[in-house]
Amino acid sequence: MNSDVIVIGGGLIGCGIAAELARRGLKVRLFERGQLIKEASWAAAGMLAPQSELKAITPLFLLCQKSLEIYQDFVNKLYDLTKIDPCYRSEGALQLAFDEPSAKALEKKLSWQLGAGLKIEKLSSNEAIKLAPGLSSDLTLAYYLPNEHQVDNRKLSHAIITLAEQSGVEFHLGAQVTEILCKRGKVIGVVANQERYYSPKVINAAGSWASLFNLPKPLLPEVSPVRGQMVTLKTLVGYLNHTLHCGHTYLVPRWDGTIVVGSTTEHVGYNKQVTVSGLQSIFSQAQRIVPKLAEATVVETWAGLRPATADLQPILGEHSLLPGLIFATGHYRNGILLAPITINLIADLVTTEQSQEILQPFSPDRFVLTAKA
Ligand code: FAD
Ligand code: GLY
Repeated sequence: MNSDVIVIGGGLIGCGIAAELARRGLKVRLFERGQLIKEASWAAAGMLAPQSELKAITPLFLLCQKSLEIYQDFVNKLYDLTKIDPCYRSEGALQLAFDEPSAKALEKKLSWQLGAGLKIEKLSSNEAIKLAPGLSSDLTLAYYLPNEHQVDNRKLSHAIITLAEQSGVEFHLGAQVTEILCKRGKVIGVVANQERYYSPKVINAAGSWASLFNLPKPLLPEVSPVRGQMVTLKTLVGYLNHTLHCGHTYLVPRWDGTIVVGSTTEHVGYNKQVTVSGLQSIFSQAQRIVPKLAEATVVETWAGLRPATADLQPILGEHSLLPGLIFATGHYRNGILLAPITINLIADLVTTEQSQEILQPFSPDRFVLTAKA
């Protein structure tokens, strides 16, 4: 049972790479132990927000910016090919502080972002409330980030799955990969459902489960789950148009009038339960930001697992100690944002056998070097 490429994991990253490689003419098999795009990629808020989420100009920030730059073309192309609209919104975001310590933290953000020539504008309380009616008047500080966008990650996922199906990806659903097969220092395939499947390239896109295979540590860097709890609230259409961020809390308005609110950051293993304390912290922060949300109704609650590496950077590229094993995982808080650039770079790596310079800081080899030092 041969194919050109095997992809392990049917999240947004795995499905996106599989679709792109199949469109380039390769025979692609994708193994998903459950259903397609029902883990982190389904649980996310869909913010495309490097300025809000990252703390400095790092290689990861630059990768996020590059992905943001190509996002609109990515969703337009997806729409042309599938007629499914991922609901990309480009109204921008507000960064807010309601007390002095958080205002200080926000001031720091302003200084490095202005220094780097990024777009960020200080707003008076009145200006902020004009942009986001309903915002609490207790506001200490507000910034507008015109380049922070959002997408409906569940609709985006639907579009990506459709594209992968149209492009001829062979899906194996309910099929957990239990072993990565190697011979003479190279990857040769995988075992799933007690069957062997052969391929010279195996892409590990297994998200928070990416280190649970049969290879020794330096070949399989640690990826661990970080739980985030989420809520959808029902409000009136047009109630909010901008994403609002305050510390770890964010409110992401969808076009149907619902608002996705998150989140928590919890190290509780593979536990995806929603807890009273998690929801309590989300609700109280949401009401602090927009007091009238006390009257909103709760439509849905859920939790997802962010795939986190030891240095909180994604792992992207081929392992030099095990040719054929390619990583596309560890996207932690930014996998929806990083999807377009990840898909392009990994598809290029597979088809040209050349790794682009921009991937270098994210190589799986960095963990081997750390282990030796
Ligand atoms: P996943 O979507 O988790 O997919 C991995 C898949 O691999 C799963 O379907 C799993 O079943 C499968 N799998 C695992 N092991 C095996 C195996 N052995 N065999 C077969 N299949 C296997 N990012 C943003 O950019 N913006 C946001 O606003 C945002 N908000 C977030 C909010 C929350 C609460 C969470 C949890 C995440 C958020 N993220 C956000 C991060 C983003 O969701 C992730 O980085 C991204 O979805 C990771 O995608 P993935 O495909 O690698 O992983
Ligand atoms: N990027 C938002 C989150 O991970 O909660």
